Amino acid sequence: MSIYENLLLELTNGILTITINRADKLNALNIDTIREIKNAMQQVYDEPTVKGAILTGAGPKAFVAGADIAEIAELSEVNARSFAERGQEVFGMIERCNKPIIAAVNGFALGGGCELAMACHLRVASENARFGQPEVNLGLIPGYGGTQRLTQLIGKGKAIEMMMTANLVTAEEARQLGLVNHVVPQEQLMSKCLELLETIRSKAPLAIGLVIECVNAVYDKDENGYQTEANAFARCCTSEDFIEGTNAFLEKRKPVFKGK
Ligand code: COA
Repeated sequence: MSIYENLLLELTNGILTITINRADKLNALNIDTIREIKNAMQQVYDEPTVKGAILTGAGPKAFVAGADIAEIAELSEVNARSFAERGQEVFGMIERCNKPIIAAVNGFALGGGCELAMACHLRVASENARFGQPEVNLGLIPGYGGTQRLTQLIGKGKAIEMMMTANLVTAEEARQLGLVNHVVPQEQLMSKCLELLETIRSKAPLAIGLVIECVNAVYDKDENGYQTEANAFARCCTSEDFIEGTNAFLEKRKPVFKGK
């Protein structure tokens, strides 16, 4: 029996597709789903056979329409803080993963859904996708990192406007803002994500993980990102893949990386 009630997991050719499967609630994130995403992410971290992941939502209408409003409505002040912190921890786990994680945004990505997509390393949206942080409509603000990541991705002026007006943006507007990397017709969504992951997989895995670490260091106030970069660069230079990559170039052949 599957340990997941709210997720569908499928591992094909090293890529784990994690589908949030509450289509009747537009894949709204209840607490159990957040816990299950954490478990699925732990699999991505731990399983050597998993080389990357795609996060998506079930059905043609929504990626994730936000945190589950029925649950939020019941939160007291104390519970609300740990509710936000738990979600932030899981989304941080996605952001820090040293394997590539792509959000395949197949419809509404609102509130926690937009935040979930932003925690992924790349976002590919179908043409019908809509993005927004409409929490102020509910007397709330984003709680899963949205105030931080939206500002990082699109800049203060646009981010504060989206969060204060609760206005949604189309997939194409999101692309122009830098919120999504690519917009494709819905039937091409998964193939575009797989194409990107295939490209990334042809590179040295250690280097890919260190790119993620160094880019994240930009936003970590406790880190000197330049130092993180220099250290990571040095680590690459002691790897077998560095020897393979440089030799392959000089020998005019394709490198065969081992992730060592
Ligand atoms: N939490 C809980 N349930 C949600 C939800 C959420 N964030 N978003 C949608 N649902 C549920 C609806 O309650 C409805 O359930 P029901 O059929 O049992 O009544 C079902 O999903 C379908 O949603 P519905 O509102 O009927 O679809 P729609 O096409 O008319 O509207 C949206 C789509 C996305 C515009 C609308 O659902 C919406 O505004 N959702 C909330 C978005 C939001 O504020 N997110 C931030 C939360 S912090």
